[in-house]
Amino acid sequence: MIYKDENRQQFHLKNDYISYIFRVLENGHLGHLYFGPSLRHQKNFEHFQDLNNPVGYSTHTFSDNLAFSLETILQEYPLYGKGDYREPAIIVEDQNGKSISGFIFDYAEIQEGKPQLEGLPATYADSGQAETLVIHLYDSETDVKILLMYSIFERLPVITRSVQVINKGNQEVSLKRLFSCSVDLPDADYDMLHLSGAWARERHIKERPLVQGIQSIGSMRGSSSHQHNPFLVLKRKETTEHQGTAVGIQFVYSGNFLGQVEVDHYENTRIQMGIHPSQFTWGLKPGESFQAPEAIVTFSKKGLNGLSTSLHDLHRKHLIAEKWKGIERPILINNWEATYFDFNEEKLLNIVDQAKALGVELFVLDDGWFGKRNDDTSSLGDWFVNQTKLPKGIGDLADSVKKKGLAFGLWFEPEMVNPDSDLYRNHPEWVIGYPEQQLTFGRNQLVLDFSNPEVVDHIYKQMKKIIEETKLDYIKWDMNRNITEAASLSLENQGEFFHRYILGVYRLYERLLQEFPEVLFESCAGGGGRFDAGMMYYAPQAWTSDDTDSVDRLKIQYGTSLAFPLYSIGSHVSAVPNHQTWRETSLVHRGNVAYFGTFGYELDPESLTEQEKKEVREQINFYKEYRTLIRDGDFLRLLSPFRHNEVAWMVCAKDRSEALVGWYKTLSTPNPKNNQVLRLAGLKSEGRYYVSEYNRSYFGDELMYRGLPLPIEFNGVNEHMAERRGDYQSLVVHMKEIDES
Ligand code: DGJ
Repeated sequence: MIYKDENRQQFHLKNDYISYIFRVLENGHLGHLYFGPSLRHQKNFEHFQDLNNPVGYSTHTFSDNLAFSLETILQEYPLYGKGDYREPAIIVEDQNGKSISGFIFDYAEIQEGKPQLEGLPATYADSGQAETLVIHLYDSETDVKILLMYSIFERLPVITRSVQVINKGNQEVSLKRLFSCSVDLPDADYDMLHLSGAWARERHIKERPLVQGIQSIGSMRGSSSHQHNPFLVLKRKETTEHQGTAVGIQFVYSGNFLGQVEVDHYENTRIQMGIHPSQFTWGLKPGESFQAPEAIVTFSKKGLNGLSTSLHDLHRKHLIAEKWKGIERPILINNWEATYFDFNEEKLLNIVDQAKALGVELFVLDDGWFGKRNDDTSSLGDWFVNQTKLPKGIGDLADSVKKKGLAFGLWFEPEMVNPDSDLYRNHPEWVIGYPEQQLTFGRNQLVLDFSNPEVVDHIYKQMKKIIEETKLDYIKWDMNRNITEAASLSLENQGEFFHRYILGVYRLYERLLQEFPEVLFESCAGGGGRFDAGMMYYAPQAWTSDDTDSVDRLKIQYGTSLAFPLYSIGSHVSAVPNHQTWRETSLVHRGNVAYFGTFGYELDPESLTEQEKKEVREQINFYKEYRTLIRDGDFLRLLSPFRHNEVAWMVCAKDRSEALVGWYKTLSTPNPKNNQVLRLAGLKSEGRYYVSEYNRSYFGDELMYRGLPLPIEFNGVNEHMAERRGDYQSLVVHMKEIDES
């Protein structure tokens, strides 16, 4: 998969889908040549670069060569200060404040498989599944070395990248910026697409045309954030869900990040992704090294659905823990919206009894089971049972739940502390910020200093005890505020704080998973405030949003699916009126939206009528029947809620033998047209599919090009025929290929 030409110093990473080509330039820097659909290998790719054409008003590396200007040459890992005036990928500062830019090519090596990144989440692959090219760059002035790592996956249009910096010298240097990847493209005819929003409206799709200058997304909140997801796409104007080309970059990291796209004065485009350089300074003493997190770089020539399918497959096969790959995720019920803080054992066991009768598999006890917590003003940090609410103890409750036939899960918010807690009273020095500072509150809580291993260890011990006592099956790991006063009493260099904090979070995950590999983790940060590929490595599912309204969820889940597979998208049916929007939607609509994710309930079954309980039982049976398809199939988006009043998507089995289609219409239309259809995708043209809900079959080509007929809509005069009416209509149908003979 990797061609390394020692003489010409050219590198071609290639599989059936993509090619990525670069070379060593005459000045020892790396010049980028190509990233796109797979090209046949050639001995020489130098002609991809025009290095004979003199450039006006620019600076030149060689006095006798006006054509060799770093201002115009596409760079592979751009450096500061030698004539490339665009954004550099790395800034290393020596003790005099001089930023080093003398890194030149030293040598390259190829490794089978893919190395793991110590202390960091990353995709993994066996030898045979991936190959890695390691490029060694060296700066002789400071004796600092950079390792650029490129892994290409055999069966995916994906290259992962990361960077390591090693101080070989005898002087300390400071890393001021270290992007995990930088990709130069030779034009700017793209729209930039990203997933942005806020609490309760996460990952809405935003699109904008590229213009000269820098356009960026990022987070300085200590978590990847509700506001911007560490993922961006450059798509051609004509690219749709189904066709056209697109480049995607996803960061495998959960802390501060910056994703930026720079268009220069020659309309070259530079995409960069990495740890946010603001508030980042990492000291490298002699002999020390720094490992940057991984970035995933992908290319699609099959539209945005193609891009998503590659990322979903990558996450499913090479990111989430082996254990969760072929396993059904349990259908859960969570008591948060059912009880909030107001519960006791009797109330909880009543929910458990009812949920069991409905077919639920896992009961999750959310916030409020520990310390003296009756509202959000106390007890974070005190991970021992709330005796007033659960006098028989948490182990006893867990036992009772398990005896009733459900698995048991608990909510934790490990990174937080309330001033009203034993932990804070004993260790006020364990919070983030200097003691003499006025600290900023969020939800009445402060953030624990996870850059300090002692703090992480203390929380680990408390959690371990509870996990053992309850024989816990599942943990919802929440994080309900962002970081302020970012500094640690345990650190010499506060510029390291943010990254060390997130390393502490990863360390706790790692330790818990090593000790309790059976526990299923669901990550959460006030809903979807830390929904990123870094978290996915430890917690294969995430609570997508605190907004459980099924109409809003169409946008949130549609956007999220761009970068993440369905089985990482926590989606629950909740009560109406909805607690976030006060909207009333039918149980059918709520179920039809929630099926496309990791399914569950967020309500008190006691409040359901007998008819509703029957519907819920049916929903659960339905999900159980199709959850393998939902887990393993290709998710194809058909109609976008960001463009239409109708939304549609489908999951198609990899072998195209069956599919589950979801269609939703938000507001009803007066006097709508007759003969409404939904055009599907991904099926076999010649296949014949039986649609159980319609009790008839259709050909694949018919369903894709003519469309699946939609039930007749109320139009003011057709009362006797109308099968759907009013706002928030929806339909989910399953189709299976049948033998024609
Ligand atoms: C925020 C989460 O997103 C909710 O689901 C719930 O767990 C609350 N925190 C509890 O405080």
